[in-house]
Amino acid sequence: MGEIRVRPATAADVERVLAFWQEAAEGTSVSDDPDGVTRLIERDPGALLLAERRGELAGTVIAGFDGWRCHLYRLAVAPAWRRRGVATALVGAAERRFAGLGGRRADAMVLEHNERAHRTWAAAGYVRQAEWARWVKPLAR
Ligand SMILES: CC(C)(COP(=O)(O)OP(=O)(O)OC[C@H]1O[C@@H](n2cnc3c(N)ncnc32)[C@H](O)[C@@H]1OP(=O)(O)O)[C@@H](O)C(=O)NCCC(=O)NCCS
Repeated sequence: MGEIRVRPATAADVERVLAFWQEAAEGTSVSDDPDGVTRLIERDPGALLLAERRGELAGTVIAGFDGWRCHLYRLAVAPAWRRRGVATALVGAAERRFAGLGGRRADAMVLEHNERAHRTWAAAGYVRQAEWARWVKPLAR
């Protein structure tokens, strides 16, 4: 793979990351807009990690730690870069971040039908917890 570098995103990356997710990510998130991504970077400057090769964006992951749990979101790799270890590098960088912050366990929400993601998370050592489901409520803005 060579030359892939992982670094935290800055405010200057917001538009580029949003465009990248349209091409590379699974579905859309409730926070996929300039305000949402800017808020993430301002609140937790190390959380959004970018994998790049010579400035080209190859992948992203959000490694969010709230002091209690370590959540991974928005793992996405450009179609042209898949199966070259980019997700592995991003998840590794995220886990090192969590370890440095004192996190104890990382988790990811993965769609039931996303077999490729299941294989990727399993290859990275993650195990599905069948006994949990996500309960959600949109917040008024
Ligand atoms: C899922 C995704 C992030 C994987 O990224 P990637 O950079 O291709 O993954 P890696 O190259 O690091 O693969 C690591 C391992 O995961 C498994 N894996 C990844 N993609 C796979 C595929 N298409 N089929 C089978 N196994 C796969 C393999 O074990 C692989 O190791 P190997 O290549 O040595 O066999 C990428 O396909 C993607 O962006 N998909 C769309 C967005 C998405 O679904 N994100 C996950 C949200 S939870």
